[in-house]
Amino acid sequence: MIQFSHVYKTYTGPVHALKNIDLTIDKGEFVFITGPSGAGKTTLFKMLSAYDKPSSGNVNVAGFDLGKIGVEKVADFRRRIGVIFQDFKLLKDRTIFENIALPLLVRGDRPAQIQRRVSEILDHVGLLEKADQRPEFISGGEQQRTAIARALIHQPGVLIADEPTGNLDPSLSEEIMDLLERVCAQGTTVFVATHDLEMVKRRKKRTIQIAGGMIIGDNK
Ligand SMILES: Nc1ncnc2c1ncn2[C@@H]1O[C@H](COP(=O)(O)OP(=O)(O)O)[C@@H](O)[C@H]1O
Ligand SMILES: [Mg+2]
Repeated sequence: MIQFSHVYKTYTGPVHALKNIDLTIDKGEFVFITGPSGAGKTTLFKMLSAYDKPSSGNVNVAGFDLGKIGVEKVADFRRRIGVIFQDFKLLKDRTIFENIALPLLVRGDRPAQIQRRVSEILDHVGLLEKADQRPEFISGGEQQRTAIARALIHQPGVLIADEPTGNLDPSLSEEIMDLLERVCAQGTTVFVATHDLEMVKRRKKRTIQIAGGMIIGDNK
């Protein structure tokens, strides 16, 4: 479960990026976060993924108190979540296979196990044939699926995707959203920030609207 209570985030300026956010999300839910540029979506995701701490209030994810979490526990927490950044953040000098294998290497899995898991997920996201390519030689949609595979390889309980279809054409966007829905159906809580309101309308999922750092709508 994910719980935000009275969460504020103020950057120096001051910029009040989040104001009094109260939010409860159950395990296995699929949630869209929508709002215009500057609304606070990425800031909300940073709070959720322990990349930054709230200025006040509580953020609790899977039993971790993220406002108070220490450095040694952050690594432990991150192993339970998957994050997809808008710009993918793939390693250029590594193959698709190696990019996806990274979280398992870091965790110290054995080579045979890594081989099996990565092959499985490459198949799942339709990239088996691209395993040995480097990111610059595959399409935008394939890079995006690589980023998703890397975020899912360690079977996280929560997947956070910040504008995952921001740079893709409509049919690729639909493909990516189908994939995220399948991941959710298998038990992962999925959060997707987007400003594609047409896509949100079609998907009929819980949609939290934020503007000016505040929740202005929450339609289940
Ligand atoms: N590191 C930062 N320092 C100062 N202001 C920031 C920082 N990050 C974001 N902001 C500001 O906080 C507000 C919310 O930004 P952000 O969460 O990135 O919105 P969104 O992802 O919805 O576009 C914006 O006004 C933005 O300029
Ligand atoms: Mg953003």
